[in-house]
Amino acid sequence: MKSTSSHISHFTSHIQHITMSILIKNGRVITATDDYVADVYIEGEIIKAIGANLKIQADQEIDAKGKLVMPGGIDPHVHLDMPFMGTYSSDNYETGTRAALFGGTTTVIDFILQTQGKSLQSALQEWKGRSDNNAVGDYSFHMAVTDFNEETKKEIQHFIEVEGITSFKTFMAYKGALMIDDRQMVGLMQEVKKHGGLINVHATNGDMIDFLIAKHKSEGKLSPLYHYLSQPEVTEAEASSRFADLADYTGCPGYIVHLTCEGALNAVRFATRRNQHVFVETCIQYLILDASLYEQNFEGAKWVMSPPLREKKDQETLWAGLNQGLVNVVATDHCPFMWEQKLMGKDDFSKIPNGHPAIENRMELLFSEGVNKGRITLNKYVEVASTNAAKIFGMFPKKGTIAIGSDADIVIFDPNEKHTLSAKTHHMNVDYSGYEGWEVKGKVKTVLLRGQVVIDNNECKVSKGYGQFVKRNKVAGKI
Ligand code: URP
Ligand code: ZN
Ligand code: ZN
Repeated sequence: MKSTSSHISHFTSHIQHITMSILIKNGRVITATDDYVADVYIEGEIIKAIGANLKIQADQEIDAKGKLVMPGGIDPHVHLDMPFMGTYSSDNYETGTRAALFGGTTTVIDFILQTQGKSLQSALQEWKGRSDNNAVGDYSFHMAVTDFNEETKKEIQHFIEVEGITSFKTFMAYKGALMIDDRQMVGLMQEVKKHGGLINVHATNGDMIDFLIAKHKSEGKLSPLYHYLSQPEVTEAEASSRFADLADYTGCPGYIVHLTCEGALNAVRFATRRNQHVFVETCIQYLILDASLYEQNFEGAKWVMSPPLREKKDQETLWAGLNQGLVNVVATDHCPFMWEQKLMGKDDFSKIPNGHPAIENRMELLFSEGVNKGRITLNKYVEVASTNAAKIFGMFPKKGTIAIGSDADIVIFDPNEKHTLSAKTHHMNVDYSGYEGWEVKGKVKTVLLRGQVVIDNNECKVSKGYGQFVKRNKVAGKI
């Protein structure tokens, strides 16, 4: 049977448990290293053949002529249904992973937060209660260790070897709820290294930030602008440098999440002089938005996130960092809150729930601002939007590439189609967009996840429960 992508929908809903085959014809296949025109043949969940003019009869054919055929995006930094600052992030596993699929992201990694005084296992059970059977797209977890002690230490090996959760998040800020001190950090690093895991870090100096927040509040400076002014570049540069030193001392692989600025990237640059490898993630917002958005009244709360948006010079540093191989991943730190939730801080910036929505916009914005504006190549785009995250977090080559034997997680992308981002049309469960009215060139047309067409013609073809938990392997210290 033959069909074009727009005629797929009427039977995809019946095929979830039957082995189907799909032939994607004549697309321009882009991986982190390759760029060629070919057909891609998929059987069940897996890519079985790639080649020019494949003569294989498939259940479905999708014509991808003139389109890019790329690995599904991987966003390794999202917060779904997360209890935070007295409320919950507004996308749950269903709405968040579905919105991710609409935007070409087929796998996300979410953060479990340990409650201080409780075990890692009890946090995992709590998160499973929210995620099990609810995800539409594939997902995995990082485990945030907020209380490292003799009991927590005993749980690390089990998480890596049994649960397939191989990365452990640490916070150097948010004192009282999430932050650990350097003593705990070194202890955790030693244990994680021993068992083949990796430490993620929110690298900002929490004590210094708390000092500045208290100072601004005591002076009656309460608008969102003071969120930004309470987290100057030095707070991030200092913590990034300290983290790199501790990782070097312990030999533990380290990954700095949401790095925003020149000072912090220079700390990493310095670490590479001693041949230390520290992985770096930035997020799409830090590449394309800047702190001038805080120079308005409460509207600026839409972009209250930690670290805050920075300066134009930092954007230049981050784009250059991608091309220099110092910045390895572009994620989102998707942590959406409804406007009503943001209003919790209308009289006090320190009570505005921190975070912004982007899970659906990352791939298209990075393409439009990065590839279409000539800042990064197509191969670099795939590398930082998908492949590197798969490699760093132990999912490669199952995820993150188009290769024989890999999961058929594929985005068929029109590099020229223009459209406008808006809360009126997005699928994230949030009533505003951080990118309202933004003109984007490049559009996700069809998305496959494990061999199933999940998005086609602006429609989602699967429902909650389709998304699977991805158990991850021990991690590589280098990519
Ligand atoms: O503002 C942010 N980033 N919110 C989510 C929590 C975190 O720090 O990643
Ligand atoms: Zn963070
Ligand atoms: Zn985050």
